[in-house]
Order: sequence, then structure tokens, then C-alpha cells
Amino acid sequence: MRKIGANRGLVAVVVGGLALTSGVVGCGDDGATTGTGGSAAPPDPIAFGAPGSLVSDDGRGSFRLGAATAATQIEDGNTSVDWAVFTAPESEGGLGKGKAPLGDATFGYTRALDDIALLQEMGLDTYRFSIEWARVEPQRDVIDAEALAHYDEVIDALVAAGIEPVITVHHFSNPIWVDDPRDVACANGPSDTNLCGFDHPEGAPQIIEEFAEHAQLLAERFGDRVRVWGTVNEPVNYLLAGYGVGSFPPGKSYVLGAEKLLNRFVPVVRTYLRMHAAAYEAIKANDANGADVGLSLSVGSFSPARFNALSDDPEDVAARDRVVALYHYLFVDGIRQGKFDPDFDGTLDEELPEVKGTLDWLGVQYYFRAGVTGQTKLIPVVEIAPCFNGIDFGSCIPPVGDDFTKCVPTMKYEYYEPGVYEILKDFSARWPDLPMIVSESGLATESGRRRAEHVVRSLEQIAKARDEGVDVRGYLHWSLYDNFEWVEGYEPRFGLYRVDFASYERSPTEGATVLGAVSAARELTTEQRQELGGLGPMSPEEGYTPGTHCSN
Ligand code: BGC
Repeated sequence: MRKIGANRGLVAVVVGGLALTSGVVGCGDDGATTGTGGSAAPPDPIAFGAPGSLVSDDGRGSFRLGAATAATQIEDGNTSVDWAVFTAPESEGGLGKGKAPLGDATFGYTRALDDIALLQEMGLDTYRFSIEWARVEPQRDVIDAEALAHYDEVIDALVAAGIEPVITVHHFSNPIWVDDPRDVACANGPSDTNLCGFDHPEGAPQIIEEFAEHAQLLAERFGDRVRVWGTVNEPVNYLLAGYGVGSFPPGKSYVLGAEKLLNRFVPVVRTYLRMHAAAYEAIKANDANGADVGLSLSVGSFSPARFNALSDDPEDVAARDRVVALYHYLFVDGIRQGKFDPDFDGTLDEELPEVKGTLDWLGVQYYFRAGVTGQTKLIPVVEIAPCFNGIDFGSCIPPVGDDFTKCVPTMKYEYYEPGVYEILKDFSARWPDLPMIVSESGLATESGRRRAEHVVRSLEQIAKARDEGVDVRGYLHWSLYDNFEWVEGYEPRFGLYRVDFASYERSPTEGATVLGAVSAARELTTEQRQELGGLGPMSPEEGYTPGTHCSN
């Protein structure tokens, strides 16, 4: 098998080829200067240590290099999951939501063992993926033995290849029986075929119990080979989409009115926090060989905005702070203190003792910078209007330095390199004893060169935080290969490997090439940094015409 990273000749050719077309980016040692050509000293190489424990003290200074996926986004034949009915055409009994039906995603179930070769080609040491609850338990309390055997095989193959599996237990999807998107009214109350969702007073406790049983099953079955577990993925992001604005299944919209927000959405968040804690306890108690259990948080670089420009108006600054409290702090502070914030005012004034202490590591998932205004109170209670997917109200701002090469057109947001550094620093100051890993970061693009730039620039920013004492123990790129981008369908491509949607062949992008090279050398070289790193303009996204900000 060809090792991408091991072939330094290939890398040099690709990188050299890029240099011909680029004209970009020299940078200082911290990667902080933009390329104006000429005088800056060449950046030092950055060394990455060997992978180590994500949690114990002896893992400090270690570094994992890996990639991530999620079951629903890649697996074929996934008919018991809520996304299948949510996106299937109405003519087939679905709801026809989202830009494309889930269908067979990218055949990541039948190709699972072959796909491990992609990780091997890059020489990566860690693979984060999720196990589909809906596949393991397609009907309530009915376990599919074949599904468990499948994941057994995948885990065995990863271990045999020297790649550490990191399992996400819940990544944006449910079995249909948890909250059937076709019957959100759930008029008859919870039943085995529809527990009515995280917001239902009688359904929610049953879901928490079912989820804990599921986590226990996974820990008993796979715990002998799996050390690192993530309970839930991007809680706030996920709940806002599924229960806040209804763009994800189950499709409930509770955040546009104060009454619903407080009486329906807040309970949803509390339920999910409890699901996390229940899964944490179940894994800890049933993984015979010990388990390091964490969760992954969606983070963003949020900026106060007004009239489509940066703002220092106290109303906007306070609005930004409330978003940060919700997105960045609510879950982790709540878990550390055993408390909850029932009115999202930034104060944890409700006791929730059962969640206390249920976090061994924190995953940080960074993609974008976005403006937030307090001028328009689109979302009541938190009294904000974010710049999000075409929502503006003056909150959308031009990219830093008016550099439209930072726009990610298919996702309509801005990639801002230093965001991940700034957030890691903030988290490290707030929770100094909590080890972190960048468990996702990636860029939707058609261009392999842009992806390679993203890889190098992300690693530079993470290394800068690490050099300043932040305990960050790895970087897992999103994603191993192109896949189903939820409501956006198949247009945004996040893969290190490009998927041909006719043949489903995977082929390496320049992102895979450079990540493989870094992984082989455990080092980011001066040359890679000069060619791809820094903060200067990125290579253009072909066919993209800039608007006034990245979201138009
Ligand atoms: C999610 C992934 C998603 C990625 C890119 C994260 O929010 O965990 O499932 O595909 O971002 O949008």
C-alpha cells in the first residue's frame, strides 16, 4: 500500500506545483503575518509529538493526528434513522426536507473496511467515527446483532492497523422511534414506536434511559478495544437545528417565541445534558478496561456586529457574550458545577447534580467566524440575531481584512484562522485542568489546495496555543472523505479524499497529501508553512463571486 505521507518526493512535487500557482503567504514563526512577499524570516518547523493518552498526565505534550466521520453522513442502507424519513421524497413516504435525500450516503457501511486503508495511506493514528444507534437498535429494545458484528469488524481492523478508534455515541441522529419526524405532534403520547422526543415530559426520561442502555451495550461490547469515547456531538448546534429552528429532524421550531423557547427548548437542552451524563456513567461503569469519556463542542469565533460592520455597542457586545455563554460555556460549566442555566442568562442557577463531573476530555470543533447583533432580538430570551445561513439583520460582516478568499461559499460563512487558537486559549484559562483535542475542523471546498491550506493553517494555530501552554492533544480533520452534509445535502465537500458520486471511488486531495506528510514526519516543515500556512489570502474557490460578506 502506498503511504501518502511517506512519499516525500510526491509531496515536494505537489507543494512545489502549488507554489507556481500561488504567490501567497510568507509568515512569521507564529504564522501571524500575511504574505506581502519578501522580508519576513522563514517560519520555524513545528514538531508534533507522538500520540498519547487523551486524559492522563503522561499524555500532556502528546499529539494525535487523525480524521473524523459520522455514521449517518457516510453509511448506506441506513433506513431506521430519522434522517432517512426526514429527507426522503414525499412520494416515498418521507418529508422531502433538506437539499437531498440521505439515500445511501457515500457507501461508508459496505466500504468500511476498505476505507481504513485511506487512514493508513495518510499514516494517521486516530479515527473518530460514530456508531449509528438507529442501526444497532432499529426498533425499541430490539438489537441488531449484525450491526454490532459490523462495528466489531471495523474496530478490529482499526486496531490491527495501529489506528486508535474514538467512538462518538450520538452524532446528530436518532432511531425514528425516539422522535418520529413524521409525527411531531405525538398526540397519543409516548409509545414504543415514538417516544415523542427530548421535549416531552414523559418521553424524555425514557429516552435518557434508553440512551444509557445503548451506551452500556456499546461499552460492554467494544470496551475491550476502545479507550476513548465521546458521548454527544456539538450539543447546542445540534439542538438548535433539530428543536430550535427545525432544519434537522425531528423538525421542531421552538426558539422564535419566548414561551416556547423557555418551556420547550430549555427542557430539550436539559434532556440532552442528562443524556450525556447518563451515557458517561454507563460507559465508565461498563468498559472493563477503563474509558476516557468526553464530548465535543461546536465553537465559533463570534463578533459583535451592527449595520453589517463590527460593533462596540454594549448591546452587541453583550449579545455576543450571551451567544458565547450558550455555545461555549453552558455544557462544560454545567457539567463541572453540576448546574444548569434555565433561562440562558449566563448564570447557572439550577442544581443538576447528576451531571456533575462527567467529563474527562473536551473536543473542540471549529469552522467559522460569525457576527451577532443585539439590535434585533430575533431569538427572544437571548435577544440576538446571528449571521447564519442567510439570516442577516445587520449581523453579517465582511471577512477580516476584506479577504473574500476566506469565504466558504457552500456553507455561507467565513473561515478565520486564529479563531481556533483564541478559543483554545480561552478554554484553557477557564478550565485549566481539562485536556482538549480539536476533534473536528475542516473546510468545504472543491479545491484540494484550499484544503491543504486549511490543514496547515489549523495546525499552526493549534501549535501556537500548545506552545503557550494549552493542553491540546490532537487534531482530527473533518472529514476523511466527502459525505452527506446534513440539510445541505452533497454539495459541500469536506473530504481529505474526494468522492466520485457516480462510482463512489475515493481519491486523495492535496489536503490528504499534506496531512499525510505531516503525520509521517510528525512535523510541519518550513516549506509547507511557507507554501500553505499563515493568515494571508487563500487560493481562490473557483466560480465564486464575492458579495458583501460571506453569507451572501
Ligand atoms: C458536524 C459535522 C459536520 C461538520 C461540517 C460539524 O458541525 O459535527 O457532522 O459535517 O460540522 O459542517
